[in-house]
Parts: sequence; C-alpha cells; structure tokens
Amino acid sequence: MRKIINVEVKTRKVDLSECTAEMIAAGYFSDAKGLDEVCRQLDKKLDGAISKVIELGDFKGKENSSALIYGNGRIGAKRVLLVGLGERRKATLDTVRKAAALAANTAVKMRLQSIALSLHSEFGRRFDVERLGRVCAEGAYFGSYRYDEFVTEDDNGRAESLCVELVEADAAKLSRLNTGLAAGIIIGKAQSYARTIANRPANVINPMSLAAEARKLASTTDGLSCKVFDEKQMAEKGMGGILAVGSGSANKPRFIVLRYAGGKGAAKKATIGLVGKAITFDSGGISIKPASRMNQMKLDKSGGIAVLATMKAAAELRLGLNIYGIIPAAENLPSGTSYRPGDIITTYSGKTVEVQNTDAEGRMILCDALDFAVKQKCDVIIDIATLTGACLVALGKYMAAVMTNDDRLGKQLQTAAQQSGEKLWPMPCGDEYAEEVKSKIADLKNIGGKWGGACTGAAFLRQFVGETRWAHLDIAGMDMFEKETAVSTGGSRGFGVRLLTTYLMNVAKNK
Ligand code: BES
Ligand code: ZN
Ligand code: ZN
Repeated sequence: MRKIINVEVKTRKVDLSECTAEMIAAGYFSDAKGLDEVCRQLDKKLDGAISKVIELGDFKGKENSSALIYGNGRIGAKRVLLVGLGERRKATLDTVRKAAALAANTAVKMRLQSIALSLHSEFGRRFDVERLGRVCAEGAYFGSYRYDEFVTEDDNGRAESLCVELVEADAAKLSRLNTGLAAGIIIGKAQSYARTIANRPANVINPMSLAAEARKLASTTDGLSCKVFDEKQMAEKGMGGILAVGSGSANKPRFIVLRYAGGKGAAKKATIGLVGKAITFDSGGISIKPASRMNQMKLDKSGGIAVLATMKAAAELRLGLNIYGIIPAAENLPSGTSYRPGDIITTYSGKTVEVQNTDAEGRMILCDALDFAVKQKCDVIIDIATLTGACLVALGKYMAAVMTNDDRLGKQLQTAAQQSGEKLWPMPCGDEYAEEVKSKIADLKNIGGKWGGACTGAAFLRQFVGETRWAHLDIAGMDMFEKETAVSTGGSRGFGVRLLTTYLMNVAKNK
C-alpha cells in the first residue's frame, strides 16, 4: 500500500532572494497599489518579470488564483508562485491559511519536493506573528494532502514527500513564528490523519478496525488512553440504540472511549466530552437509500473521526483539560437481523424510542453516547455528526450548523470557528422541534415531520443531555461530495479537527 504523502514544515532564517527552493510562494492583494517589499525585492532581480505579469493583467491577485514565474539564476529559487490574496481589507487569517494551502497543493501537483513560503510578511503588522505561523502550517498540511493509499500505479502525479519552509530574515519574528508553527504542525497533522481514516472505505474501516485504530493511537500518544466496549458489554449496559443500528451487519458495533487527562491537577480542570458519530457505512438500513451516491456514505463516520483526531491533537498539545472522546461506531446495513421501522428500542438512558426510519440512525447511536458523557459528569458536551441531509439543504457546503442549549458555549464555538476557518451557523432546536419527535407509543420517535429535519434531529439529541451544557454540530455536507479545489484535493476535508482543537485550546487558556 502506498504511504500517504510525508510533509514536513519548518522555518528558515534567510533573505528571500537568496532562499534556495524549488519554488517560493509570495502573496499579492487584488487591490495592491504596486508591489510590496517582498515582491519588489524579487522583481528587481527577476528583471521586472513580476510587474510584467501584473501589468499584462495575466494575474489579478484574486483569491484562489496564482501565477508562476521562472527564476533567472539571480535569485536562489527556481520558481516564484504569486498567490492571490483578494482584497486587502477583507483578508483574514483564513486568507493566509488558504494561500499556504494553494501553494502547497500546487507544489505537490508539480511534483516538487520543497517550497518556501513568504506569505506571512504581508500581514506582519495586522495579525499576531505566532498566529501567522500556525495558519501557515495548517494550510501547508491541508493543501499538500493526498489520499492515494490504494493507487498501485507508479505514476500518481506527486513526489514522495514535501518540505515546506516559512522564510523569515528577522530573528525576533522567527521565534514567534516557530511557536505558532509548532501548534500548527500538530493540528495540521491531526487533520490529515482524520482525512486518511475518513477516506478509507467501509471494507477497510468498520467498527472493529476503527476501534483498533483508536487503541493504536492511544498506545502511541502520551496522556491518551482508550477503552472499547464490544456488543456484549454494550448489552450489559443496556445501550439499546447503538446495538439496534449495528444489528444488521456482520461487522459488530463498538463503543470507543478515549480519555485524555491534562497533566498535574487534572482533577480540578474542566471535563469536556466530545461525542462523534461513526457510522462506518450508512446504507439507510431497511429504509434503504437510493443507489446514486450511496458510496459517499463511507464518510458517515466523519464526526467520530474528527473526535479521534482532535484527541490526538489535544494530547500532543498537552492541553490542561480533561477530555473524553466518545465514538459510537456501527455499520447501518439491511439484513435479516436488522432493526426495523416500527421497532421500539430502549436506550442507555432508559428512554424508549419508536423507530420510524432506520436511516435516521445517527441519533440512535448518539443518544447512547450522549447519555454516557452525562454519566461521566462532563461539564460540557459537544457532539459532531453528519446527521441530516436537511442540514445540507439548509446551509449548503460552506458551513456546519450549531445547535445548543447554552448561549455562552455557542459564542465560544463561533469564536473557534472564526479562528479555525471552519465555519458554523446557528440553528434552533427548541421545544417546538422537540414536540415533533414525541411518540404516542414510546417516549420519542426517531424522525420529526417533513420540514426542519436538521432542527428536529438536534432536538431529539437534546433530550439526552439533561441540564448539561451541550452543543451539536451537524457537519453533513462538510466532508461529503467534496470535489477538488484550488486549495485542496477531493474527499474528506477532516472538518471539525481545527474547530474543536481551537475551541479546546481557548478553554484551556480560559478564554
Ligand atoms: N448520514 C445521513 C445524513 C446525510 C445525508 C449526511 C446526506 C450527508 C449527506 C443520515 O443518517 C440520514 O440518512 N439522515 C436522514 C434522516 C431522515 C430519515 C430523517 C436524511 O437526512 O435523509
Ligand atoms: Zn442514515
Ligand atoms: Zn447517517
């Protein structure tokens, strides 16, 4: 099996024009009046080649655009990639992250093995240098990622590895850049890890192999431990929801509990429960889905994997928190042993649920996991799930929905969303919606009416958290049907890893 591309990110103290690299990436604003310091330096040595591209109108500095200029022997690098940053006043840290991603993506496409980034210098006065280091590293990992483990042909259009260097001549800036870079590398690698596990198909990742992966992660990560409940242990505990969903498949369900305890005095620190839906394949079950694009439902485990990768990042960052990573994992298939529409299931909490549609399986596994988190006395619970097609209809592919019973938690998540570039939009999950999931013959039913499916889904989950501060992230559509873009390859984007890790970092810093 081919190895996922190996990416290394570091800083380098060097004058830009002397920097030897296969390619240097420099940023350019669409409304720039002339060249900035970095480009001017290069332009001079390149006999005006940069000003020429701009003068001719071949490159306008728009976001997601770039122009390639070849070196002439008078600069250290072989090529210069001008990366569009869009309008100066609209630029955010995410602009820098995306520019780094575009540059890294281009380098991999061109089979280059090294690239130097000089993207942060344009923003030095506007954003904290440490933050700039972090987003450059995150972007470099995001853009260079490829999923080609199963490609056996030699020519898969990329080099084996990529080395990314952030170029800075000023020693004081370099040290701040390095601090940010260290965090960015951990987060970037965790996101790539999430993408690989999520992209693996359902004949490779099933609940058992996912549990084995979680165990492996815990055994190789300091401070992380892992417990897995098999179907017998789940039956003893009365986890009827996850058992019902997993009952149709020969691949039995698993309940994965990762735990991270943050160093000394951990007992006094807040306990956060992250809960992620890991349906390793969602055929819909007896309420089977249409054939078209059903293959995408291997990505129905994305929420659980975001939790897995966030636990990895949190432990490597040594955050001062207690964190549970709770991942209910099951495969939703139709068979003679499947759960059926009409069944009444007793969940871990004791609440009964009338199944009206076996394709609304996410909430059936999450309700047991949420109740488990409550029983562990988590101060805050955040669940993340590709829960509803309705969310995709409501918000499209650009942001995930956040529903919560706690405004402060909602605000903290919005802050993390802005910082991480993984966007959230608030949606309701109040009593009107909860009314729709009441059953006449059980406590609850697993679907509401025709409209507002993302909200009734969230309202169902809310019934299992009691008074605990809780938020639900519906990420349907964030990982599914992803096509290649200027900044990244297709398939899973590992959505949620940057968002959740940023949230945890902020909480650990008491923000
Ligand atoms: N995994 C799906 C949700 C989904 C759909 C995610 C499309 C991404 C893209 C979920 O389990 C599901 O099938 N939900 C149903 C719920 C319905 C039966 C109430 C849906 O959205 O149709
Ligand atoms: Zn489903
Ligand atoms: Zn599903």
